[in-house]
Amino acid sequence: MGESSTVAFETRRLEGKVAIITGGASGIGESTTRLFVKNGAKVVVADIQDELGCALCEELGSKEAIYFVHCDVRKESDVQKAVDTAIAKYGKLDVLFSNAGVTDTVPSILDVSYDEYKRIFDVNVYGGFNCAKHAARVMIPAKKGSIIFTTSIIAEIYGDASHIYTTSKKALIGLTQNLCVELGQHGIRVNCISPYGIATPTLTTAFGNVTKEKAEGWFCEAGNLKYAVSEAEDIAQSAVFLASDESKYVSGLNLVVDGGYSKTNVALREVLKKQSA
Ligand SMILES: NC(=O)c1ccc[n+]([C@@H]2O[C@H](COP(=O)([O-])OP(=O)(O)OC[C@H]3O[C@@H](n4cnc5c(N)ncnc54)[C@H](O)[C@@H]3O)[C@@H](O)[C@H]2O)c1
Repeated sequence: MGESSTVAFETRRLEGKVAIITGGASGIGESTTRLFVKNGAKVVVADIQDELGCALCEELGSKEAIYFVHCDVRKESDVQKAVDTAIAKYGKLDVLFSNAGVTDTVPSILDVSYDEYKRIFDVNVYGGFNCAKHAARVMIPAKKGSIIFTTSIIAEIYGDASHIYTTSKKALIGLTQNLCVELGQHGIRVNCISPYGIATPTLTTAFGNVTKEKAEGWFCEAGNLKYAVSEAEDIAQSAVFLASDESKYVSGLNLVVDGGYSKTNVALREVLKKQSA
């Protein structure tokens, strides 16, 4: 696990930084945890999957470099505790990667219920508010910091996902951009990353428990950029950039990592192909 086809950077681009990664035990968060530690960051993994999170921390090293906290981002007190843990263990917080998210499979507006809406928005949106609030609490006095959200390509090109999930991710893009204005006054940068489909546990489950290979095959076939696979490590690399001083003047950005998918509309081309076949 952890091996990827993407280019390996040798430098320690996050040396001396302290980061919290929510949803850090699995998928994109796990990959980012691995890459942050490899790049010299101290990481607090904040997740509700205690066993996975603890196993990852054990695999990656001692409490000197990585620490797990049980944190349900829906609960403000849990997020507060995660931030306070970073300060207590490592003395500061430079980066908060608000990445935890859930999805639903409600296909039609006719089937939307308040309970399902609340289940998704509580994690994806309210969880993001909690993370930003408590990161800002400690970053404002420090006059620096980087807050990063995981949004989605489905908030850039429509129709591929449910209304609830899509609007929750669009809300996070709005939060990113509004926050970058308020927190820019305090030297804090706020950005988000919008991934294309990546065969993580959330996705393979949402697609009916298909294998990683099968889901990857679908994403490759539908993708715009050929001869490349969309992987969790691609998002991790983007997060390293946004967390590091290499992006010190980048704020309010929605970094779309989709191989150009959101720029395409191949519907007419496909119809014409069928005509000429
Ligand atoms: N996989 C994709 O194709 C894709 C595409 C676009 C955006 N995203 C987003 O990427 C993020 C990461 O998802 P992933 O694909 O890596 O899935 P994943 O299921 O592998 O990881 C999600 C993690 O979030 C954690 N989590 C869920 N609810 C939580 C809560 N209330 N509090 C704390 N942690 C919680 C889970 O335990 C899990 O470890 C999500 O925000 C998701 O919406 C994924």
